[in-house]
Amino acid sequence: MPEVIVEKVHKSFGALEVLKGVSLSVGRGEVFALIGRSGSGKSTLLRCMNGLEKINSGHVEIAGHTLGGDAKALRSLRTDVGIVFQSYNLFPHLTVGENIMLAPRIVKGIAKAETQKIAREVLQLVGLLEKFDSYPDQLSGGQQQRVAIARSLAMRPKVMLFDEVTSALDPELTEEVLTVMETLARDGMTMILVTHEMAFARRVATKTIFMHKGTIWEEGPSKELFANPQTQELRQFVKSDVK
Ligand SMILES: Nc1ncnc2c1ncn2[C@@H]1O[C@H](COP(=O)(O)OP(=O)(O)OP(=O)(O)O)[C@@H](O)[C@H]1O
Ligand SMILES: [Mg+2]
Repeated sequence: MPEVIVEKVHKSFGALEVLKGVSLSVGRGEVFALIGRSGSGKSTLLRCMNGLEKINSGHVEIAGHTLGGDAKALRSLRTDVGIVFQSYNLFPHLTVGENIMLAPRIVKGIAKAETQKIAREVLQLVGLLEKFDSYPDQLSGGQQQRVAIARSLAMRPKVMLFDEVTSALDPELTEEVLTVMETLARDGMTMILVTHEMAFARRVATKTIFMHKGTIWEEGPSKELFANPQTQELRQFVKSDVK
């Protein structure tokens, strides 16, 4: 049973059809990379997967939840599906530890001592245990992004969605965030990531999907897809690495 099933998803904003019948299926522990030009629908697809955008038609099953239920069902889905964006949005007035402990306490009602334990564990995972009592503005961009990932992991998600989490970082800080994501992948997390890091997609993603004009234009095992693009559009994209 796949962990993520997307079937014939259509999504429009007004008259603009952004997703034109997208289907994909991700097995447990698989890592999918979504690549494609700006405006091709990558973020929209990701946002549809955890109910941040409402789909017009089609079907989404993710981490054992079916999209389209009531608010309670959606909240439950979101505890199992973590999403991390380019902007980390940590609360500036809370310490790193407090930022991470917040959702497990409020959403899951976990006791404070236990959330502290969880926070330490996920901070350890992203290599930032020593920053537990620091405030976000005392951290580099890469460290803040790793805290944002840790915050998401504290909910014990079954699936993680990443939308260009390294786009705002310089190369050095990008590397440390990619390393964290690679560790997660190796530990068996099911992940879908929108990325401009082609080398990372090729190395870490089991499968890469090239989106173009709201459709899956080309897809395949990452190494094959990059080595041997079948369409002019993907050849062009890979060659120029256009954003
Ligand atoms: N909330 C919205 N309202 C109206 N149009 C939107 C909305 N969100 C996205 N769009 C439009 O949908 C299209 C796809 O946007 P999307 O953000 O999914 O692209 P993307 O592939 O993630 O691009 P990028 O690489 O620049 O992040 C774009 O034309 C965009 O302007
Ligand atoms: Mg985007």
